[in-house]
Amino acid sequence: MKYKAIKLIKRPALKITPDIFQTVTLETPALESGQILLKQTHMSLDPAMRGWMSADTNSYIPPVELGAVMRSSGVAEVVESKNDRFPVGARVVGMIGWTEYAVSKGDGLQKLPPDIPAEAVLCVLALPGLTAYQGLVEIGKPKAGETLVVSGAAGSVGAMVGQIAKAEGLRVIGTAGTDEKCRWLEDELGFDKAINYKKDDLAKQLAAATPKGVDIYFENTGGPVQHIVFGRMNAHGRIIVCGMIADYNTDKPSPGPNWLNIIRKRLTITGFTMPDHWDQVPAMMAKLSAYYMAGKLKYRAHKLQGLESAIEGINLLFTGGNTGKLMVVL
Ligand SMILES: NC(=O)c1ccc[n+]([C@@H]2O[C@H](COP(=O)([O-])OP(=O)(O)OC[C@H]3O[C@@H](n4cnc5c(N)ncnc54)[C@H](OP(=O)(O)O)[C@@H]3O)[C@@H](O)[C@H]2O)c1
Repeated sequence: MKYKAIKLIKRPALKITPDIFQTVTLETPALESGQILLKQTHMSLDPAMRGWMSADTNSYIPPVELGAVMRSSGVAEVVESKNDRFPVGARVVGMIGWTEYAVSKGDGLQKLPPDIPAEAVLCVLALPGLTAYQGLVEIGKPKAGETLVVSGAAGSVGAMVGQIAKAEGLRVIGTAGTDEKCRWLEDELGFDKAINYKKDDLAKQLAAATPKGVDIYFENTGGPVQHIVFGRMNAHGRIIVCGMIADYNTDKPSPGPNWLNIIRKRLTITGFTMPDHWDQVPAMMAKLSAYYMAGKLKYRAHKLQGLESAIEGINLLFTGGNTGKLMVVL
């Protein structure tokens, strides 16, 4: 059977442009013992892909090799199987790539219960929820009554962070790039306050929204928000550095805040990446499932249609054009 896949054939100069990809038509091979054939149904697009496309070998994960199928996670159905662990009809989530079909031995794939929709898997149980849980709960150690600020709050990670924090009894303030996103955070997700960092007087509104200062800052974006929140951190505050999307498409990273306040306020600043914590995924998925089943984790998916929509669509993440978890439906 013929299918399409997209290979990375060039490194991006700064922005991601269509010429760095090549769509190829491939033929599914006959399976060997232990192999399964996956038909991908939902493919995740993530800001981290910008880093995976670059030649940087000093990061937490090696770059995608030129000529290889672009790396991504996704949800897939087993359509042929020579592996008893993964019968035909089973659904899985894992690293599948920018491709309609993939052959696998099952390594790194998690089997999914039949009753959770694929969108909920990618929005809650996969990278966004896992990242939010690892960063906020395991690193941030939130306590009821504390104040949390999350940047990129209407994004897939940020929305999970804010909701988990609300479920744990924190006061939650988020920053996002449109009034519509801010309304969604306040009206649908129950954030105490959402601030449009592109338009509102961020310093003034943040000061008003955090009368007792900020105990936890969950950093998803960098940019000007970082400096303003940094100035409001309480003594013994925790800053969880998850992402710096404002700096992904530039060769001039913005300067960070002065370190004097780290001493004066005795701050703990921790960077982390989810791939370091894959061994904890089953336990974290169980915790996330419990929040989800209790109706405490709402989500919205921004769905693109067809494999090749990823080529232009991935840039929505860098313009703020995505409303919710960006994914391609295949
Ligand atoms: N450490 C980890 O293991 C890990 C795992 C997953 C994700 N992350 C990081 O977490 C962050 C969020 O990822 P996500 O998957 O949840 O993406 P997302 O928030 O769903 O989408 C990206 C959002 O970032 C905002 N943005 C883009 N450029 C910006 C800029 N210059 N300044 C401020 N905001 C900007 C846009 O929202 P607005 O409309 O609000 O501007 C955009 O919608 C990213 O930095 C990502 O790299 C880290």
